[in-house]
Amino acid sequence: DLYGEERPNSAGMDVSNPVVVSDFAERMGTVSQTLWQAAPLVGGKALAGKLRKVHNPADRREVVGEVVEADAKMVEQALSRAERAQWDWNATSAHTRADCLMRLADLMEEESSRLIAICIREAGKTFADGIAEVREAVDFCRYYAARAREHFAEPKIMPGPTGERNELRLGGRGVFVCISPWNFPLAIFTGQITAALAAGNSVIAKPAEQTPLIATAAVQLMHRAGIPEDVIQLLPGDGATVGGPLVADSRIAGVAFTGSTETARIINRVLAERDGPIIPFIAETGGQNAMIVDSTALPEQVVNDVVISSFQSAGQRCSALRVLFVQDSVADRMLKMLKGAMAELRVGNPSLLQTDVGPVIDEEARDMLEAHVTRMSSEAKVLARSDLGKDCKHGTFVAPTAVEIDSISRLQREVFGPILHVVRYKADRLDQVVEAINGTGYGLTFGIHSRIDSTVNALYHKVRAGNAYVNRNMIGAIVGVQPFGGERLSGTGPKAGGPHYLFRFASEHSLSIDT
Ligand code: NAD
Ligand code: ALA
Repeated sequence: DLYGEERPNSAGMDVSNPVVVSDFAERMGTVSQTLWQAAPLVGGKALAGKLRKVHNPADRREVVGEVVEADAKMVEQALSRAERAQWDWNATSAHTRADCLMRLADLMEEESSRLIAICIREAGKTFADGIAEVREAVDFCRYYAARAREHFAEPKIMPGPTGERNELRLGGRGVFVCISPWNFPLAIFTGQITAALAAGNSVIAKPAEQTPLIATAAVQLMHRAGIPEDVIQLLPGDGATVGGPLVADSRIAGVAFTGSTETARIINRVLAERDGPIIPFIAETGGQNAMIVDSTALPEQVVNDVVISSFQSAGQRCSALRVLFVQDSVADRMLKMLKGAMAELRVGNPSLLQTDVGPVIDEEARDMLEAHVTRMSSEAKVLARSDLGKDCKHGTFVAPTAVEIDSISRLQREVFGPILHVVRYKADRLDQVVEAINGTGYGLTFGIHSRIDSTVNALYHKVRAGNAYVNRNMIGAIVGVQPFGGERLSGTGPKAGGPHYLFRFASEHSLSIDT
């Protein structure tokens, strides 16, 4: 039991059981036959409007569903409803709010097959990633419910002279705008929202334009779990058209954003220039994540961890490994083994259990990644490319690729896909490697493979990163176990799935009574 008295993390789906796998395949079939609908959910009603089609990244000929995107009038309606509803929601006890989140977790587990299947169809998640997606969403619900009970239910009694009672209470701030990315379309979407709700805020959620279907399914479950319809509302649509006016509105009390560093800068500017109160901006952004492998590392383990860290989820994780630094004395051997491992990767239909790597999210992402590989082919050395499966023809697939470059400074920005960059280093130049990694300005994840404690210790202290991983892979942080989030260009903190996250969504009130 990871949390002592609390419930453990979600167990997910037991894929070692053939019955579970064949039940899921059946469910996947049903989900694939359905035309899913997404729409602004304002005051609990799905609003009508012009429809846009959502395509399957694994086969762009297939339409997965349709979405109505929010317009300015809907944004206005949602804001005024959310503002009114927040007072009552904040006045409920933290236990009531936590009970809703616990029910939501149970509903998500009950509905996990459907949710996983939608994630596969809409976001190109592999089966394994879909399972992890639902597990993480469930974990966020339960973890934040527990933190709300712990910190928000009763006031903290502060010291004071005899005859005076001093209390500190935590409560909601108002309307929180939650803006999420497509790469964790259920987990991060749910995590932001449940944190804001647990603290006593009402929420307007703006999912990524690529993934409105899973977002709609999630908000419908939130309403079924007992969260009032005006307290969680959904506004699908384009970032600038829907997200822009939301963050510029003086009625909002906070923004929780996860996405690219570039978008975070835009929102930061809007918040700085708008009228109204100064509000919290929680931004979890991109990374230029590195791993250092020295000559004492175990080659088989390194290769396994590098492949998982770089290519799982088609490299579309903010935590994914982008630049591998290998000590030159062992580099040839390691890279030969890496090439062998990459030849074994199965790229293709994401709904099959045996698939390792699915598609990237859309044509724009594929074209950007292929252009990067083309540029690298002329500027650097392509070490290996995995084969695409036969079923990749109509999808936006990018073959996992490893390229050798001479310096991390060749990468101007995050390359968000299955492309690993490798740099050789000499043992006496380790300090320069550290300097180069810190020189990117990012600070999200960092990996070390070494059997020398002093090396591990020195690197851990010198490299600036929010999440460090030693002698293991560097993705898949678990809620309540590895609180997740970066620093500098990678984010503002506090860490999602950590004990301090809810505080940033809260206002604090001090009460002093002369008894
Ligand atoms: P993105 O920045 O393009 O979009 C993120 C969200 O912001 C979307 O909902 C989008 O519609 C919205 N948006 C865009 N412009 C906006 C504007 N002007 N005003 C308000 N909202 C706006 O990012 P993405 O492509 O969806 O996601 C991938 C990025 O997210 C990567 O950079 C990745 O590293 C990062 N990410 C970070 C974390 C983390 O925890 N640090 C986790 C997942 C993803
Ligand atoms: N929390 C996600 C991971 O660790 C982004 O991979």
